Amino acid sequence: MGCLAVIKEDPKNTETIPPIIPRPVSLKTTKDSVTLQRFSHILVYPEIPETRFIADEIKKLLLPVIDIEIAPSVNKGKGRIELKINSKVSENKEGYSLSVSSRRILIEAPSPSGLFYGFQSLRQLLPQDLEKGIEPQNTAIAFVEIEDYPRFKYRGMHLDVSRHFFDAEFIKTYIDMIALHKMNMFHWHLTDDNGWRIEIDSYPELVEKSAWRVDREHENWRDWSPIQPKEEPTYGGYYTKNEIRGVVQYATDRHITVIPEIEMPGHTSEVFAAYPKLSCKGDTLDVVPGSYWPNKDIFCAGNDKVFTFLEKVLTEVIELFPGIYIHIGGDEADKTNWKECQKCQNRIKVEKLKNEQELQSWFIRKTETFLVSKNKKLLGWDEILEGGLAPKATVMSWRGTKGGVESAIRGHDVVMCPTSHCYFDYYQADPETSPEAIGGLTTLKKVYSFNPIPEELNDKEAEHVLGAQGNLWTEYVKTNEIAQYRVLPRMTALAEVVWSPERVTDYDDFYNRLVHLQDRFDVLNWIYAPGSFIVSMQADDKKGGDEFRIVLSSEKPGTPIKFTLDGSTPTVTSSQYTRSFTINKTTQVRAALFIKGNQAGKVSEKTFYFHKAIGKPVEYLIPHKQKYPGKGTLSLVDGLKGTSHYNDGCWQGWEGDDIDVILDLGERTLISKISAGFLESVDSWIFLPTNIAVSFSMEDKEFKNEKTTQLTDAPPDSPPERRTADFSGINELCKYIRIRAKNRKVCPEGHPGSGGKAWIFSDEIIIE
Ligand code: ACM
Ligand code: ZN
Repeated sequence: MGCLAVIKEDPKNTETIPPIIPRPVSLKTTKDSVTLQRFSHILVYPEIPETRFIADEIKKLLLPVIDIEIAPSVNKGKGRIELKINSKVSENKEGYSLSVSSRRILIEAPSPSGLFYGFQSLRQLLPQDLEKGIEPQNTAIAFVEIEDYPRFKYRGMHLDVSRHFFDAEFIKTYIDMIALHKMNMFHWHLTDDNGWRIEIDSYPELVEKSAWRVDREHENWRDWSPIQPKEEPTYGGYYTKNEIRGVVQYATDRHITVIPEIEMPGHTSEVFAAYPKLSCKGDTLDVVPGSYWPNKDIFCAGNDKVFTFLEKVLTEVIELFPGIYIHIGGDEADKTNWKECQKCQNRIKVEKLKNEQELQSWFIRKTETFLVSKNKKLLGWDEILEGGLAPKATVMSWRGTKGGVESAIRGHDVVMCPTSHCYFDYYQADPETSPEAIGGLTTLKKVYSFNPIPEELNDKEAEHVLGAQGNLWTEYVKTNEIAQYRVLPRMTALAEVVWSPERVTDYDDFYNRLVHLQDRFDVLNWIYAPGSFIVSMQADDKKGGDEFRIVLSSEKPGTPIKFTLDGSTPTVTSSQYTRSFTINKTTQVRAALFIKGNQAGKVSEKTFYFHKAIGKPVEYLIPHKQKYPGKGTLSLVDGLKGTSHYNDGCWQGWEGDDIDVILDLGERTLISKISAGFLESVDSWIFLPTNIAVSFSMEDKEFKNEKTTQLTDAPPDSPPERRTADFSGINELCKYIRIRAKNRKVCPEGHPGSGGKAWIFSDEIIIE
């Protein structure tokens, strides 16, 4: 597939530190190395099935070089590989130590899972060719001393097999990918509107009917056309119980827990193709091709037969999956039919519930009671908070981190997978250069910047954050190749986020190691995305002195950036960016990445508007929301205007609060004009301020000579737009300028968010 072609870059900065991902807690190395031919035996203490499995894997990997023996003793003069369970090595049961020296490779760990992770590190020290069964030219392996353990105990990857079906063989490959990254949870989204994928003996029609839909692969997912009269559903598939047992065993061998997800009460319309009486309306539905929205056909919460069905299904699911968690979905259940259903309304009355939200909560709690009786824990999407959380539930926070924060504060365990950083069905680069995705933009660099612990949590609450997970929804993922392309290498970034210590945040360092790991992906025939070739431009907020400096960067440190400042298109002969540079007038910067002399990706361009406050300190009397920080501390005076997109990275946002900032011009300056930029994007709850005031002061910060202005709201249904509040004809000599913009506080009546907090967004305050 042409669009999946990988553009190879030169690995640069050949690292002195062996390039292991996730980066180990501690790694020491020397210039010495030992060749693999030196080793004759693998010794295993104690030899139990789990440790023997790892020894067998090592033996298999080394076979192109040596046929190493797994045995209790070594040949004289030869080196040995030792795998040892040793409880003293790490307090973390998944921790390990790995040492490579002239006669011994030693992996020690308190548990087989630690040994397995030690093996994954060793694997990354070995030549890639071994992965393909080829004898490498160079069989030297560097001396290392590694001490390592994971930061989080939940390190997950999710896969939706309902929107598109992936066979058991590919699921095993996906598990191989998870294993190489030292991740330990596979969340298998087995049921949804587009197909039921697990064999259930008590309800055979689930795989006879609910697993099949009409084939619309040639259409855009959003433009699906419904089933035609007499048309046969031909697209689909399911896993037999034997296949599932095979996958679970394969994962278990690799220290990965498989978490099955059985959706309820919504995202269940496929069930009603086989068992229509379980919905409120009782209509026989076809399994839909394409999107299904809103999700109105959901399980009837007033019908006891629904719970008989679910308990029988879950009983069979529990028999197949030995892990502690059962995921019950819980997301996006539209309550329209519950409002109109006599049985549901009756349930609300009998159970003394307030409304349909509480009915959902009752539904989930009832399911939790059942799961707990089977010694399982309930995991659900953050909607399970609505109407009250089931007592022991673990929450997966996907609609941002808010649900996770709320749950952790209330003492519930949470897994973080906010759409902002963990939805790998989103684009990772310019849509024009990528296979079609569902939308969004979550770059590799953005994933790498994720911290699963939200700043709102104290240390005690943060203990409830078990870790994070990357989610792959598959509306726009039709093939195995695209599935790999979407998650690689973003899951590599996430793997480091969830494994390495919090202090490990240097993207450039990560990227240099990633280039090596991608060579391994090539050998393994794993498809990965080339990533984003966009050049980012911003003010240097680490600058010293009075200059205004601009920094250029990309996701590909080490790849040359060529740039121009005169409006011309950058070419291979344009200036090469080496460090931040100053400007002293309004300047258009144009830049692009060049790989081996050829432009890679599009030319980026930005105009920096030079003005009297550019790069000057800004004091925030009311802080902006952390979620919308714009470009950081200089965002309001970095010379950059935002677009009409609230999440273009230029906008700072305040929720329910006013803007109140003081610009420090550094010295007395004569001011004639001020122009403050605001965003009006009413569908996104972002409104114009109701009043904007500017005032001026000398050194004493006694603000005087206030001037105010108002902006008129655009007519209803206008598209989002950048607007400015302009003050001209000012004649003020001052050192400080205070700008206040009043928030209307709540969304007005008639707006979908009526009564909820209104936002105001600002991008730049231009002072002339
Ligand atoms: C979800 O993305 N609906 C959990
Ligand atoms: Zn009902």
